[in-house]
Amino acid sequence: MAWSQAHVPDQTGRTALVTGASGGIGLETARVLAARGAHVLLACRSVGRGRAAAARIGGSTEVVRLDLASLDSVREAAGRVRSRHGHLDLLINNAGVMFPSYRHTEDGFEAHFGVNHLGHFALTGLLLDLMTAVPGSRIVTVASLAHRAGTGSLDEDGARSSTGRRSLTAYGRSKLANLLFARELHHRLATSGAATASLAAHPGLSPTGLWQGDAPRFLRPVAAAGLRWLAQPPDRAAGPALHAATDPHVPGGAYLGPSQLFESRGAPAPARSSRASRDVAAQDRLWRLSEGLTGVRYTFLSAPAEAEPYGAVCPVTGARG
Ligand SMILES: NC(=O)c1ccc[n+]([C@@H]2O[C@H](COP(=O)([O-])OP(=O)(O)OC[C@H]3O[C@@H](n4cnc5c(N)ncnc54)[C@H](OP(=O)(O)O)[C@@H]3O)[C@@H](O)[C@H]2O)c1
Repeated sequence: MAWSQAHVPDQTGRTALVTGASGGIGLETARVLAARGAHVLLACRSVGRGRAAAARIGGSTEVVRLDLASLDSVREAAGRVRSRHGHLDLLINNAGVMFPSYRHTEDGFEAHFGVNHLGHFALTGLLLDLMTAVPGSRIVTVASLAHRAGTGSLDEDGARSSTGRRSLTAYGRSKLANLLFARELHHRLATSGAATASLAAHPGLSPTGLWQGDAPRFLRPVAAAGLRWLAQPPDRAAGPALHAATDPHVPGGAYLGPSQLFESRGAPAPARSSRASRDVAAQDRLWRLSEGLTGVRYTFLSAPAEAEPYGAVCPVTGARG
């Protein structure tokens, strides 16, 4: 039987943090977790929108101010979570921007890369020790079909580039970074013996606020047609992340997405990903770059040199599954 939200098990006693829970897929993810009994931290850029979301969701929630475009805000949010909670069961790295109105984050990073990847890299690193001893704890990072558009090298110049605001390549690169990060995190968690699993998911296509950015002209008709014919509503688009977060049978390192129409819609299933996303050397390089750029080091995990290989080896040379 295909997975549906009805399969999300009881989450009573668990604490979950969802970034970008003020709307779209994040709100639906938070809603389901709260409805199943979890205490859900809605990590939102605007406290007002977060409170409005909490009122819609019901259940046990709290709003944490988090602007992923500011490393100071990320540190403040992590500090607030740490001061109020001794552990965290689920971290859903969901928030994202596409074609935003600004070129750079507060710290001078290209907006897509800074918000979608670096902000989540820093947040995860600052919260991870609340999770590593918690049995069944999971980190789910939300990627995209568009990770395939993420060509070019992920280096410091790219991270600070000023040409990405209306670039599908820049959005795709940030989503490729989400996948590389989720896999490298899985590798490091597994080799350090942590109880936490890292997984990735993508929602397919869904008509959310994400599509209200300042898209390049050539993309607008393609996007409009795609959303009309292929998309699914946000409650269904939240399925892959919810499945990855709550089904203990889905192993760490997995990547889920919708199963139908080129992974644009349908029930969650294992998703396909680009060769670039399975490049082990790129995963490690991005990790080191991200540590350097954010100043957040995951020091309690094994250094990569000590790490054992993990998971299935893919047919692609040097790639992990
Ligand atoms: N919708 C799709 O077709 C689609 C396809 C592939 C992947 N995705 C991915 O799915 C995830 C959710 O997107 P969505 O479709 O639900 O879009 P959405 O409706 O625009 O929601 C995005 C969320 O991210 C938050 N956000 C934006 N910038 C932020 C920042 N600097 N700090 C903290 N939060 C911030 C937004 O908060 P505000 O309310 O403050 O703006 C909002 O809550 C994203 O990672 C996106 O890349 C979506």
